[in-house]
Amino acid sequence: MPNEQHQDPLLPGYSFNAHLVAGLTPINKNGIYDFFVDRPEGMQGYIINLTRSGEGEVYYKDQSFVCHKGDYLIFPPGESHYYGRRANSEQWHHYWVYFRPRALWTNWLVWPNKIGKIGYFCPKRDLTEKLEKLFIKIVDIAQSSDMYSELLGMNLLESFLIRRMRSLSKLNEKNYDYRVVLACNYITENFNKLSQDDSFINQVSHYVHLSPSRISHLFKENMGVSISVWREDQRMNRAKFLLQTTPLSICQIAQELGYKDQFYFSRVFKNKIGLSPKKFRYVIYSKH
Ligand code: FCB
Repeated sequence: MPNEQHQDPLLPGYSFNAHLVAGLTPINKNGIYDFFVDRPEGMQGYIINLTRSGEGEVYYKDQSFVCHKGDYLIFPPGESHYYGRRANSEQWHHYWVYFRPRALWTNWLVWPNKIGKIGYFCPKRDLTEKLEKLFIKIVDIAQSSDMYSELLGMNLLESFLIRRMRSLSKLNEKNYDYRVVLACNYITENFNKLSQDDSFINQVSHYVHLSPSRISHLFKENMGVSISVWREDQRMNRAKFLLQTTPLSICQIAQELGYKDQFYFSRVFKNKIGLSPKKFRYVIYSKH
């Protein structure tokens, strides 16, 4: 029989044998939770935590850093956890969400590292409240026990990760020439209608009412890469996404992306990504 300690995720000994577990750890000086979390081998899933009040201190090998209100930290699987209330802070209250990610989240979980592989994120002020509300909602939902709560929690977590990505892409947004933006949208919406060779530039130029050489030049100036390279990168991104998230066959994906020949698509994919589409799909699924 599991003892009580095993049923409290805030105390050592809880198994975390689930896709989503979340909570609030209210560490007060000399209170029952006032100890250092010490998991040298890390955990099987990811943890994201958000400091609500006070300060925490996170150690990694011989380094450490302090986390403050509003900071999010992410600990990837297998990364050691050694953290607790900062000695001169009266408290450290933090929300946390433990999860086994969905395959398509992979790229969204790589955050800039603080130390080791511990990632860090602090949203821009206009987003702080929105993201915090969402994060707290995940914690609430994950703690209710009806049959849909885990699904709903995963759904909100996905939404949190997407919102974070979106906020980063907004930060990077430059003032692109609107014809370049038009060209980008046109390309990504018409992969399967554009010619495979460079004559697709004529189609794009027609669409944006510029000459082929003018749009090529403007595109390179705005995006830093040529229009052909950009299209190929986007096709590879979409291919990875479709391989990860849909059961479409390689042949169907090739068609969707405008490659007439699935073997040619596989060759291009392997060249760029380093794995064949089939192997890529296999590796992604066997990781999770
Ligand atoms: C609690 C910690 C919290 C998180 C969960 C999984 O004990 O307080 O930060 O690590 O475990």
